[in-house]
Amino acid sequence: MKILVTGGAGFIGSHTCVELLNAGYEIVVVDNLYNSSEKSLERVRELTGKDFAFYPFDIRDKDNMRKIFKEHKIDACIHFAGLKAVGESCQKPLEYYDNNIGGTLALCEVMREFNCKKIVFSSSATVYGMNNISPLKENMKTGGTTNPYGTTKYMIEIILEDFHKADSDWAVTLLRYFNPIGAHKSGRIGENPNGIPNNLMPYITQVAIGKRPFLSVYGNDYDTHDGTGVRDYIHVVDLALGHVKAVEKIIKDTPDVNIYNLGTGKGYSVLDVVNAFEQASGQHIEYKIVERRPGDIATCYSDASKAYNELGWKAERGLLEMCEDSWRWQSTNPNGFEE
Ligand code: NAD
Ligand code: WQD
Repeated sequence: MKILVTGGAGFIGSHTCVELLNAGYEIVVVDNLYNSSEKSLERVRELTGKDFAFYPFDIRDKDNMRKIFKEHKIDACIHFAGLKAVGESCQKPLEYYDNNIGGTLALCEVMREFNCKKIVFSSSATVYGMNNISPLKENMKTGGTTNPYGTTKYMIEIILEDFHKADSDWAVTLLRYFNPIGAHKSGRIGENPNGIPNNLMPYITQVAIGKRPFLSVYGNDYDTHDGTGVRDYIHVVDLALGHVKAVEKIIKDTPDVNIYNLGTGKGYSVLDVVNAFEQASGQHIEYKIVERRPGDIATCYSDASKAYNELGWKAERGLLEMCEDSWRWQSTNPNGFEE
């Protein structure tokens, strides 16, 4: 079975490539390297001892995308490619709608031309908006997203569902990720943000290696056990294994739309994560409590039972292991993939 992985050089994509190869799938990767380095793919080859084709194309470039489908008989696509920075999406909505929605439409158009109609899409817990109460379940109302990034995920979910309504040959799996952190055990691949990290874990690891003086904790007056925001952190390798299960199912089942939360079902506060990281790394993390960040909610965690019941998948790795693996990656690769 051959799987096209868009955005395969990125954080979640590279970990998923490793697990797909380990599970015996052939892969083809397309990534324009806008937010990644081809070196991540060299390390995927090193970790797995397996080779695969890589195309440095933009998925919006349909002529180039056709070349991939002419050269390979693709059975299904995992679609990670997209822009993902919440704050930046408010400054550059046009770029986000163009890249995320335009990219998905172009990809699906070419897939349809080559009669490949199985797609696993990287959605996000952000589609649940501000108004649902955790634990979040797949049948809760979505929408009410608070930034263009989140709105692209919400809109793409609807677009893909419409494809299946119009043509029941389309098989669509929407995976709603919670907060992916951690890295491959080897420390050879991991998250490599450009500039100042937006997300909690890469910020903490940069404080730990001395790149940033302290962590700003965005508010300690939320209605949570210690006042700081609570999230469902999931190890990126568990997330990657969830994709392998989703691919297994989409290949063998009658085409349908399936939606799964990929989370642990547990919520941890910002200070829980800081404490776990200090324990896992032996490093002190300096922090200051600052104002709340606009758009943040107090608590967000999953009900992950549907993925367990239907995919036979559950997250196995706990918070301490996530912190240990994030730290191994950061401390052995202080400059990311630049050696
Ligand atoms: P990432 O930025 O590391 O990976 C995305 C990859 O897509 C990058 O390698 C980038 O170069 C590539 N890309 C972007 N636009 C492209 C285009 N037009 N053509 C070809 N390649 C393109 O991000 P990630 O954290 O690995 O996220 C992967 C997917 O999961 C994204 O769709 C993201 O929105 C989604 N997601 C991420 C999180 C998270 O917290 N990391 C949470 C929920 C959902
Ligand atoms: C986690 C917690 C912050 C940074 C985002 C997207 C979401 C999804 C995952 C893609 C919150 C606090 C953070 C810092 C802090 N991505 N924090 N200081 O906001 O839950 O989710 O990434 O789909 O759509 O919105 O993740 O890591 O930014 O924040 O105190 O420097 O850490 O307030 O409580 P978030 P995050």
